[in-house]
Amino acid sequence: WLMHYAAEQRLACYVVGGCVRDWLLARPVGDIDLVVEGDAIALAEAWTTVWPDQLHTHPPFGTATVSWLDAGALVSLDLISARRESYPQPAALPIVQFARLADDLARRDFTINCLALQLANQPTNVIDPHNGLVDLQRGLIRVLHKRSFIDDPTRILRALRFAARLEFRLEPSTAELLQQGLPWLDQTTPARLWNELGLLLSEPSAFKALSLADEWGVLQQLCGCAWPQALNHQAQCLLPNLPNEQLAISWLLLMSQLSPNAAQAQTKRFGLPKPIRQAVGQWHALATTAAMLNTTLSAGKLDRLLSPFEPLVLQVWASTQTPLVQQQIAYYLQALRPIASQLSGRDLQAQGIKPGPEYKTLLAAARERQLDQFAAENPNLC
Ligand code: CTP
Repeated sequence: WLMHYAAEQRLACYVVGGCVRDWLLARPVGDIDLVVEGDAIALAEAWTTVWPDQLHTHPPFGTATVSWLDAGALVSLDLISARRESYPQPAALPIVQFARLADDLARRDFTINCLALQLANQPTNVIDPHNGLVDLQRGLIRVLHKRSFIDDPTRILRALRFAARLEFRLEPSTAELLQQGLPWLDQTTPARLWNELGLLLSEPSAFKALSLADEWGVLQQLCGCAWPQALNHQAQCLLPNLPNEQLAISWLLLMSQLSPNAAQAQTKRFGLPKPIRQAVGQWHALATTAAMLNTTLSAGKLDRLLSPFEPLVLQVWASTQTPLVQQQIAYYLQALRPIASQLSGRDLQAQGIKPGPEYKTLLAAARERQLDQFAAENPNLC
């Protein structure tokens, strides 16, 4: 329908950006971006009058998103009016003017992201005004112009993400420009930085990206910390167990490189949700238990010490500790934590004990005895 309508309306439409790059690399293609030399919103509205798909429009930017369910998964197509962008000052949002495809491609971040394919009935060649195909073959990330990282410092984080994900290198002059762009990260709003940082930390290649970020001086500039190589091994071991927790694991490990106060300040600065803020606090509280956990504890004591902490924090923290600590935490998480307490407040009441602060002590002591007994009866689990 789209091709038919575009031809009828004499609208030139092009598939552009990441989906062309991924298609050429034979990688799974994510959301599709369609650039229209004309009014993208009008096209999206015409589409959704014929097909009952979901439509979101963003008039100030001349863009629209159409979404539909395909085999149970939500698929989106972004329709963008071809535009030219100019930056009133470094790291600010750009001023947008409608333009032709060539202008639209020229405003983009890297040569490998400014490839386009015209939507047509017959096969067409890839449109490649910035030699992106050669860079794609050579595995190079290259900016289109000298001010690219200064205009939009979030591109530094995008370069990291693509380098780690695709195993590409920075082309040498791009590497120099990236270094010159680093100070401009401080001028970029935390919300814009997090848009990219959050994506980077959520990808399977996040640890590789963090390691590169350390090498390129990005981590130092962004949050004043490093990513020691040893963390890569520890982090990779965690992932098969916790594949859905990539973002929280990466953030916790990164924040573990900072003092407790600095870690909380960074977590707040990027507006991370409460569970992650709490996890960062717990991480540093756990550090005070390390000496105790480095001696063999009874099951009851282990449970009492570790029960205030979230399992995710315990697992990630354990990966940075000695084998004895790792063993005790694994034993606690697998064998002890799932055991329900036999004694409850109701039982104490039934025994005629008046509700009060001593309930907590009594219940904790009863649980400790229960778990010590469990350990004595199941020595093979220890
Ligand atoms: N883009 C850019 N500068 C940015 C963000 C995006 O030039 N700061 C351009 C790039 O050309 C990119 C396109 O906008 O290809 C779409 O952005 P996005 O969806 O974030 O990038 P993808 O390349 O599609 O990345 P991904 O594969 O992670 O979806």
